[in-house]
Amino acid sequence: MTADEYILDTPVVREFVTGVRETIAASGSPADACDAIRPRFAELLADDEWLPARYQAADPDSGMGGGIGQWLLFRAADRSLSLFSLVVPPGSETPVHDHLAWGLVGLYEGTQDEEIYAERTGALELLESRSLRPGDFYELIPPRDDIHRVRTTSAETSVSIHLLTNDTGCVWRHTFDPESGRREPFRSGYVNVDCTEP
Ligand SMILES: [Fe+2]
Repeated sequence: MTADEYILDTPVVREFVTGVRETIAASGSPADACDAIRPRFAELLADDEWLPARYQAADPDSGMGGGIGQWLLFRAADRSLSLFSLVVPPGSETPVHDHLAWGLVGLYEGTQDEEIYAERTGALELLESRSLRPGDFYELIPPRDDIHRVRTTSAETSVSIHLLTNDTGCVWRHTFDPESGRREPFRSGYVNVDCTEP
């Protein structure tokens, strides 16, 4: 049987994951669970000690392009939960993409602009643009809030922390052409872990 993978195996990460799991088990819906996880997530974003520099580094061979690094920190044995950092160099942006799972994303370093889209017949509609500073975070709850793009606006690299209820780097999801709405299969992968079957 495959075990939980604590790639960053520290008391902070273990406590965070344990707390998140208890909260999810006690919540009636993804929206309730997100609300209940918020204080714990805010604490993690405010702690500038727990994330080693290697997980804040860009990846020149990025599967997402633009030097964007996606570092897995934890994933559950059954791949129902993952924690990872997303490192976006200055001037780089992700493709428009989905996640296919609910969760929380928060900014840890640098600043980002985020654009949220909705799929309409034959096109994508831009629903909202917002700017994010360290400590800001948002919920992704499909199908309403699942498609977005982020871009680093700071002179330094931005680092965001993702807690999502799938193995986001390894599932086949989608990128979208914002003009035509055309979607393509997409698997981002992780810099530090392979996508082998559980
Ligand atoms: Fe994303």
